[in-house]
Amino acid sequence: MQTIPVKASKSYNVHVGSKLLPTLGERLADLLPPPRHLLLVTDDTVAALYADTAADALEKAGYTVTRFVFASGEASKSTATLLRLWDKMAEVGLSRTDAVIALGGGVVGDLSGFAAATYLRGIACYMVPTTLLAMVDSAVGGKTAVDLTAGKNLCGVFAQPIGVLCDTDTLKTLPPEIFADGCAEVIKYGYIGDKELLCLLETPFDRAPERVIARCVDQKRSLVERDEQDGGCRQLLNLGHTGGHAVELLSSYSISHGRAVAIGMMLAARAAAALRLCEKGLPMHVENMLKRYHLPTECPYTARDLAEAALRDKKRRGDTLTLVLPRALGESVLYPIEITALERIFALGGAL
Ligand SMILES: NC(=O)c1ccc[n+]([C@@H]2O[C@H](COP(=O)([O-])OP(=O)(O)OC[C@H]3O[C@@H](n4cnc5c(N)ncnc54)[C@H](O)[C@@H]3O)[C@@H](O)[C@H]2O)c1
Ligand SMILES: [Zn+2]
Repeated sequence: MQTIPVKASKSYNVHVGSKLLPTLGERLADLLPPPRHLLLVTDDTVAALYADTAADALEKAGYTVTRFVFASGEASKSTATLLRLWDKMAEVGLSRTDAVIALGGGVVGDLSGFAAATYLRGIACYMVPTTLLAMVDSAVGGKTAVDLTAGKNLCGVFAQPIGVLCDTDTLKTLPPEIFADGCAEVIKYGYIGDKELLCLLETPFDRAPERVIARCVDQKRSLVERDEQDGGCRQLLNLGHTGGHAVELLSSYSISHGRAVAIGMMLAARAAAALRLCEKGLPMHVENMLKRYHLPTECPYTARDLAEAALRDKKRRGDTLTLVLPRALGESVLYPIEITALERIFALGGAL
């Protein structure tokens, strides 16, 4: 097991390793001594696989556990589910000293984190991520949210969890396409700032993911510690995401997030090479890496459509936009542009 201590506005540990889920009760007891009431929040897919193990571990440690299970999928990251979750918290009488346990992927984590941060003005939330994406990205760093009809993640707060437990054995039941989506985010960490991670990724890591996940978490830790509220260097995590979000939108979400980010990283790498920001060989390195993990590298949309879709983003402000572009192998930089330049950059990136 590897432990990464995060020192943000609140300090907490992220544990990464195998056979950790059965130890959930002991881990939590170190932070919040029992007896207490816990609400175990999960989706129906994850509930069928892991809720019993998690609940048993917590009950053995002396906690009272109530389960809240909702239908799996992004559609559940809604104000409707949030309302039901808040009502459940009140119905079972959770108090300020009780806690929420978020067992599942990013949908469970974002929704539970938001509910916990707002119920009684904030109770503790412990994250138990079960997807690769959630382990390396959403469970760490304190961004919580639900989606609105107008767009994804439009309503949320920054609230750090009290701890994160990544049991890598849970990844064995992930459908291959969901694992591949997480791989796009893992690869992203390599190109943002970790050349050694890129070397590790030369060999597929699915059988021994602990080291790779811990490196990703450590990089997220470093960015979150320096810029918790996302006004500066934390934006490096958006590598591949300006193009990626546009691809997701234009495909009406039929191209998944990870695949869209892979295409977005390819656009960024080709644009950076065309702008002579990085060496000519870097796009080929990115392309080979993405192909190794069965991710797409060609963009099916025109530069004009991509730019139009990217600029529809509700969270954008003003006439400028900050892109993330690779400068060298294992190093990316923030690259502010006028929004009018975006179409040209996508064209340089190889869009149609
Ligand atoms: N808070 C952040 O900083 C942050 C960062 C990135 C993404 N996100 C959010 O994360 C969400 C995406 O997360 P995700 O990709 O984990 O999606 P998800 O939570 O929907 O999980 C994907 C699918 O995998 C299933 N699943 C989960 N664990 C499993 C397991 N171990 N075995 C088998 N099936 C399993 C789920 O039931 C679901 O059907 C999005 O809503 C996104 O906005 C948040
Ligand atoms: Zn992402």
